[in-house]
Amino acid sequence: MSPSRPLDAPPDASATATALRTDLAGDLRAGDAGRQVALCGWVARRREHGEHLAFVDLRDRSGVVQCVVDGASDLRSEYVVRVTGTVRDRPEGTVNPDLATGEIEVGDCAVEVLNAAEPPPFPVTDRVDADETARLRHRYVDLRRDRMQRNLLVRATVNRALRSAMERQGFLEVETPLLWVPTPEGAREFVIPSRLRPGEFYVLPQSPQLAKQLLMVAGVDRYYQIARCLRDEDLRADRQFEFSQLDLEASFVSQDDVLGFVSEAVLDAAQAVTGERPGEIPRLTWAEAMGRFGSDKPDLRAGPELVELGEVFAATGFRAFAGAPCIKGLRAPGHGDLGRNRLDALTERAKGLGAKGLVWLRVADGGALDSPVAKFLSDGERAGLVGATGAAPGDLLLVVADERRTVEIVLGQLRLDLGRPPVNEGPLALTWVVDFPLFEGLDPAGRPVPAHHAFTMPHPDDLDLLESDPLSVRSQSYDLVLNGWELGSGSIRIHRSDVQAAIFATLGISDEDARARFGFLLDAFRYGAPPHGGFAVGLDRLVAILAGEDNIREVIAFPKTQSGADPLTGAPAPVSPRLLDELGVRVLPPPT
Ligand code: AMO
Ligand code: AMP
Repeated sequence: MSPSRPLDAPPDASATATALRTDLAGDLRAGDAGRQVALCGWVARRREHGEHLAFVDLRDRSGVVQCVVDGASDLRSEYVVRVTGTVRDRPEGTVNPDLATGEIEVGDCAVEVLNAAEPPPFPVTDRVDADETARLRHRYVDLRRDRMQRNLLVRATVNRALRSAMERQGFLEVETPLLWVPTPEGAREFVIPSRLRPGEFYVLPQSPQLAKQLLMVAGVDRYYQIARCLRDEDLRADRQFEFSQLDLEASFVSQDDVLGFVSEAVLDAAQAVTGERPGEIPRLTWAEAMGRFGSDKPDLRAGPELVELGEVFAATGFRAFAGAPCIKGLRAPGHGDLGRNRLDALTERAKGLGAKGLVWLRVADGGALDSPVAKFLSDGERAGLVGATGAAPGDLLLVVADERRTVEIVLGQLRLDLGRPPVNEGPLALTWVVDFPLFEGLDPAGRPVPAHHAFTMPHPDDLDLLESDPLSVRSQSYDLVLNGWELGSGSIRIHRSDVQAAIFATLGISDEDARARFGFLLDAFRYGAPPHGGFAVGLDRLVAILAGEDNIREVIAFPKTQSGADPLTGAPAPVSPRLLDELGVRVLPPPT
């Protein structure tokens, strides 16, 4: 059984018929010739043909069909009309192979104007790219465009496939509150004043993290939700204030179980949209991902991997490499023609990322290495470098020597700078990254920063290290990566209050503070919390890439601009002083 209706399959005609129409315009085909139809939609285009005849392209959500109308002089673009007529084959030579309905037209049409329309603020075509603010201000016009209708369809198709995969795997859909309390997941939160308790506030959830853990204590066993999450963070191509997750949590599971649930859902969604099921999702450990790609969200499409060069330069006399704890190289195919300016810029880029310098070598015809530092390298080192990287004429080689983490991060970023295709291009490159460290580093106050969040279970063998050497503690957390975007994250959770208290202590959250902020969770853990774990897939990111978009705004019906505004509604906007009084809120003048 296919996981869901294929993306482009026309819906059952009887399901889309209404009192006003018999069919959707874009669904009509040669087989409908001879049928009397009634269609409703918008005037996409109108071309006069002689004095009395006009061709009107009628658009509805399914597409466009050409209608031949006698005397349609009062029809303008975007008028809402009802057209009745007879489907017929187009005359020889006028078939349009680029249009799904291109073999037919609707003839002898009568047109009823259901509503007039002002000229649209920008043309409703896929070719015109109007300014973004204008598009969002008139989003209802923007969404009429074919590409946007298709994006909405892709989104609905993904939702349906995900839901059906979760149901099939025994997950129960449960809705969780939007008026909630702060949770330590790293993002700034939106705060809502309480009218009934002035001076007190709700917080909009960054994710249903704590609610879903409570559902596990509640015996729900397998929970899922297509959940709205809210985070007040800087907006980017892959970030909005409001976004959606396929959120899930399950009891009595291992990491492998969770990865299995998520793989099934994501592969089903990809198949539902593209018609092809990607192969099994490969797994990398975090250490492998960093070592081979210099990133914890490796883009497998971005060209060659980093290469270990420690052995090649083990006995080097070159000052910048001698004695370095780690030396690695990167081959950039076809970049051997970069000029000095570009190479100087690359060196500056490497330094900006934390490297002490960057060695570059252009591989000339015949295999010689062209570089200011080539003369400091021995014949053996030059041969070893070419051998280890597999360099060929026309390539550029980059080498960095430093602490391992610095080398990997710098070369990982240069690899993306030089070789990363746009996120929405090429075949889907999915990968799991597992075995993250529990903490990703130290904050300015010297406290460990959770790599995932504070509810992630440390590796059972590393519990003793929490106090003595927190940065070496491994965790049971995992990410899913798609084309270099972090698609989702999850972990096996802490289900014991003593372990949770130890983690809070390591994070510098005092007992008192923990009780005040998460007392409800610690309490719940005292009443029989099952071992549990879960995951959240960033739905907007998945849909964007499946729809071939490079910005999640394109797959959200009503997104915010980069600066967090909604040009359509004018949000955010001031509220009346009376409302502020009721809420017990006073607005300070803006800081000068
Ligand atoms: P995390 O914070 O990693 O984990 O979020 C999971 C996924 O949600 C997506 N995402 C976003 N998408 C659009 N705009 C945003 N501002 C944004 N922020 C995050 C990403 C990300 O991978 N509760 C945990 C999950 C768990 O442990 O079960 C969580 O929310 O694709
Ligand atoms: P210097 O000896 O500092 O003049 O550097 C000589 C060359 O080696 C320059 O091209 C530097 O960018 C490069 N370089 C210096 N330090 C490093 C390093 N740690 N890793 C890679 N290249 C380096």
